[in-house]
Amino acid sequence: MEVAAEEPKVNGKEYHIACGPGDVERYVLLPGDPSRTERISSRWDSVRFRASHREYVTHTGTYAGVGISCTSTGIGGPSLSIALEELFRIGADTFIRVGTTGAIQKDIRLGDLIISAASVRLDGASKQYVRPEYPAAADLEVTMALIEASERLGVRYHVGVTASSDTFYTGQGRPGYRGYEQSWMRELLPDLRRAGVLNFEMETATLFTVARLYGGRAGAITAVIAQRETGEFDANAGIDDAIKVANESVKILKEWDDAKSAAGKRFFFPSLLKSRRARGPFLKMSLKTRYVYF
Ligand code: URA
Repeated sequence: MEVAAEEPKVNGKEYHIACGPGDVERYVLLPGDPSRTERISSRWDSVRFRASHREYVTHTGTYAGVGISCTSTGIGGPSLSIALEELFRIGADTFIRVGTTGAIQKDIRLGDLIISAASVRLDGASKQYVRPEYPAAADLEVTMALIEASERLGVRYHVGVTASSDTFYTGQGRPGYRGYEQSWMRELLPDLRRAGVLNFEMETATLFTVARLYGGRAGAITAVIAQRETGEFDANAGIDDAIKVANESVKILKEWDDAKSAAGKRFFFPSLLKSRRARGPFLKMSLKTRYVYF
């Protein structure tokens, strides 16, 4: 049966991201902005440019010896869902969004980082996958790795619930062109604030929903470039910190994934590392003992 229209490829590569099997690693960082791909991969030990097609730019390489890829998704859930569909098809399974955000709680400062534990599904894309009651929840291991990396790097960060909208202006309670507004827009920020939601961005709900449906792992770290309570805005605030944390979290996840494989466990839990550490000195001791007796 002809399936070209259902699984479109060009020269054996996925149609939109222009990558095929072997072009990406298991761990993929997902910035929205294509130009951020280079900013991210410039911190790796080695980088190979893989593809650039529309908003999708892909680099693959190693960071601290760990295989890593980065694919830009463009803005919003619809274009992110296409990248995710095609990345899954070519072997990726662990995704970390690295983006920017607008904070809606007053204790969050410009340049702070937000790690999303879950997201309010104000997007449309995730609703084309599953009913709206299904949670957009981040993967626990990816989220813990982002927290661990933030602690190691000493950055200011917050962890909590994000809201993901399909539009930057009206969907985030900003006036449209010439002050266009609807009554619900006036209630949006105060209502979400009262529910303890930390921030607005545009991709996380789709990422968390689709990654979980497909059996992958996803997390998100975003830099606060807009403070909606004070009205401050700085287009570059915190982005380098978010990039550093995202790269470092891949190194940490690899360590944890190796510990899981070594112990034959499906899920990571903190005492897995303790038992790994305990095995190190024991091994040294037994080698020394053998030396003494032979
Ligand atoms: N990205 C968003 O979606 N909203 C903001 O306020 C800032 C960045």
